[in-house]
Amino acid sequence: MNSINETKGLFKTSTEINGISNFVMKDNEEKELYSPEEIRNKVILGNALNILNKIEEESFDMVFIDPPYFLQLPKKELKRWTVKTVVEGVNDEWDKFSSFQEYDEFISNLLIKVKRVMKSTATIWIIATYHSIFRIGKIMQDLGFWILNDVIWVKTNPMPNWLGVRFTNATENIIWAVKDKNCKKYTFNKDYAKLFGIGKVGANVWVLPICWGTERLKDTNGRKLHSTQKPVELLKRVILTSTKEGDLVLDPVAGSGTTGYVSQALKRNFVMIEVNPKYVEGIIERFKHPLKITDTPYPNKKSIKLEGFE
Ligand SMILES: C[S@@+](CC[C@H](N)C(=O)[O-])C[C@H]1O[C@@H](n2cnc3c(N)ncnc32)[C@H](O)[C@@H]1O
Repeated sequence: MNSINETKGLFKTSTEINGISNFVMKDNEEKELYSPEEIRNKVILGNALNILNKIEEESFDMVFIDPPYFLQLPKKELKRWTVKTVVEGVNDEWDKFSSFQEYDEFISNLLIKVKRVMKSTATIWIIATYHSIFRIGKIMQDLGFWILNDVIWVKTNPMPNWLGVRFTNATENIIWAVKDKNCKKYTFNKDYAKLFGIGKVGANVWVLPICWGTERLKDTNGRKLHSTQKPVELLKRVILTSTKEGDLVLDPVAGSGTTGYVSQALKRNFVMIEVNPKYVEGIIERFKHPLKITDTPYPNKKSIKLEGFE
């Protein structure tokens, strides 16, 4: 688990970002409760497992979680057989757990705490690859969440399986759920769902690229800021299908802050929590250049016709 290792002067630029004063708050360990006003449209630096306990129950309209994947990559460098260059996987400290048990406990604790702060009409999205999505789905059902859908994200530019020993993994699943079976009045903007899903029916399959090119944020050394930065287009779809303007969206493991960034552009409010100061610094830089979103879906729907769905 990352620890908060504040460097001198860090966040001094964060006093006012993009019209939001005190944009970043460092979790105050002595604080017992954060008022909704205090945390609205803020990034909280600290451990979500502690911070969520200090947020009033039933606060949020929607939650998006992109948790550690627990990829369990080998310690040795993975090299491309042909050109011998090193494959940049997700080998970050935050993705390391000692066992499935430890990973399951983390996911389970996080979901229990998140459930408490969800309104009864709220929905939750949780994204993962085959490495963990099945564990997460089981944990969610055991905790009483009621799964509405899983959206399959088909990546148009996946990282190839360089060794050629199995299929190239080109999908992630996003489970979409409510707190329990009796939650009925959640937001579902079916017109957007139809627009984004493949075919005329708007099926639960979204086809879009992973984050690439100029969208990919860089750190001060010119390297990727975050190894799993999610594309704006993905969050746009999540937010437009499941929230209304003015809603409050939570991302308790915010990384490079895509959820809040897109929420702001779409006139939603947000609360983001991230434990790593480097990423929080990256979020500050990101918010200095506010996002503008047009309603044009990407990629062009005509290019993603799939047989059987028309
Ligand atoms: C998969 S990444 C999220 C990426 C993000 N969706 C984006 O678009 O950049 C997961 C993040 O969870 C953070 N994290 C892990 N444990 C945490 C905890 N207990 N509290 C807050 N953040 C945590 C990690 O530092 C990492 O940035």
